[in-house]
Amino acid sequence: MNKLKFYTIAIATVGLFMQSCSSTKQSSGSASKPISVYAPARPAGQQDMLGYAAPKIPVVRVGFIGLGMRGPGAVARWTQIPNTKIIALADLIPDRVESSQKILEKNNMSRAVGYSGSEDAWKQLCERDDIDLVYIATDWKHHVPMALYAMEKGKHVAIEVPAAMNMKDIWALINMSEKTRKHCMMLENCVYDFFELTTLNMAQKGLFGDVIHAEGAYIHDLSEFWGEYWNNWRLDYNKNHRGDVYPTHGIGPICQALNIHRGDKMNYLVAVDTKPFNGIDEWKRMKGETPTDFKNGDQTITMIKTEKGKTMQIQHNVMTPRPYSRMYQLTGTKGFANKYPIEGYALEAGQVSADVTPNHEKLSAHSFVSTDVKKALMEKYKHPIQAELEERAKKVGGHGGMDFIMDYRLAYCLQNGLPLDMDVYDMAEWSCLTELSAVSLDNGSAPVLIPDFTRGAWNKVQGYKQAFVK
Ligand SMILES: NC(=O)c1ccc[n+]([C@@H]2O[C@H](COP(=O)([O-])OP(=O)(O)OC[C@H]3O[C@@H](n4cnc5c(N)ncnc54)[C@H](O)[C@@H]3O)[C@@H](O)[C@H]2O)c1
Repeated sequence: MNKLKFYTIAIATVGLFMQSCSSTKQSSGSASKPISVYAPARPAGQQDMLGYAAPKIPVVRVGFIGLGMRGPGAVARWTQIPNTKIIALADLIPDRVESSQKILEKNNMSRAVGYSGSEDAWKQLCERDDIDLVYIATDWKHHVPMALYAMEKGKHVAIEVPAAMNMKDIWALINMSEKTRKHCMMLENCVYDFFELTTLNMAQKGLFGDVIHAEGAYIHDLSEFWGEYWNNWRLDYNKNHRGDVYPTHGIGPICQALNIHRGDKMNYLVAVDTKPFNGIDEWKRMKGETPTDFKNGDQTITMIKTEKGKTMQIQHNVMTPRPYSRMYQLTGTKGFANKYPIEGYALEAGQVSADVTPNHEKLSAHSFVSTDVKKALMEKYKHPIQAELEERAKKVGGHGGMDFIMDYRLAYCLQNGLPLDMDVYDMAEWSCLTELSAVSLDNGSAPVLIPDFTRGAWNKVQGYKQAFVK
């Protein structure tokens, strides 16, 4: 309850809760009180950014801030995107700027302007008048001040995940983006992985019927990495915060499949977590002292109910030895898709045409389709973005190619004056689980209402889609 300055506990009865979540009637039989959080009205004169397209930028000039483990890979990828120019590079640590200059040299490009050596040097990058896009790959606490300043200075921003860690910052980004009419995109790469893209295409073509439940996760044992983060920022954050602090890889792809704020919206969540069993040991291993106040549970599970009566489940575990998993699972009225640990589809026989499998005996929704049927399905439903970029993406790389596709699509949409694949409200919805799951946990797993970040426009667009030049 200590952090509840921004929340007002709705002393609402179940009746009031059911009013605000019209489709929750069957499931809200208990007397638990939903918590509603701070959600400011849209300031006068601002409009939403749904479907927003900025004027075309034929050559996208970019500046990077944050060149630790993640940043230099982005610099390398942008050297491979046509009609872009890398103007400036910034990091607190001068050597890191220099290492990224070498990436440019290796690609026969001229050196960029470097900013380094002081906490605020990055501001000069944002102040330049020859940059269109500021690409931010710093630790989590620096994302928002940098993005706000960059938008204020007239730049579009792309921010690593999660873009913002609390509701106050999320609303600040939304308001700044709406006010300045600058894109604020979160760099959620996992929506571009090949299985997710193909499966999204299948879902949109109705292969799974109506998708009614979806799961995602970030399960990645980070024990080998804790020592690598600048200034121990990541383990510090986990020590000081409960909740799913890294939800976006899990929730991003499933929100697209469920058309969140394009015909449906997330209404409320509840969260449970374990104690920090290994978290405490990791801190002791890294710092040599036993913490008495390590907050982040080893395993956190968040469940979400949508306006249209659908459910989602998101997991976070960076502490225990488990094979890497983002889960990615779609359950539909006529079929099922699953990525981890086994990639596969299960479909009702009527869902697959004869060109995929002439023998419908080969299909049964009780088990995954055979390898040859899966292969044929993935070929038939290959997403147009994948079809265009797969070969190049595999060559350039970045998590198997999805990072390149993300950057390429961002540049392509800016160059052609198209709406971006992910808007500022996606950023908000996917990032908000960080604080809202913690609010639920701090209040005995009470339901927490998820604000409509579009402020009334969640049903304006029907169905998620990416934009292409016609
Ligand atoms: N999408 C993905 O798959 C993926 C993968 C890894 C990391 N990330 C995200 O990327 C971001 C960076 O993670 P990382 O692993 O590179 O962390 P890191 O600790 O390796 O790098 C952070 C960098 O930020 C710099 N920095 C800190 N304060 C600064 C300031 N005032 N001015 C300029 N630079 C400053 C540090 O010097 C450091 O080089 C995080 O948001 C993380 O969640 C995303």
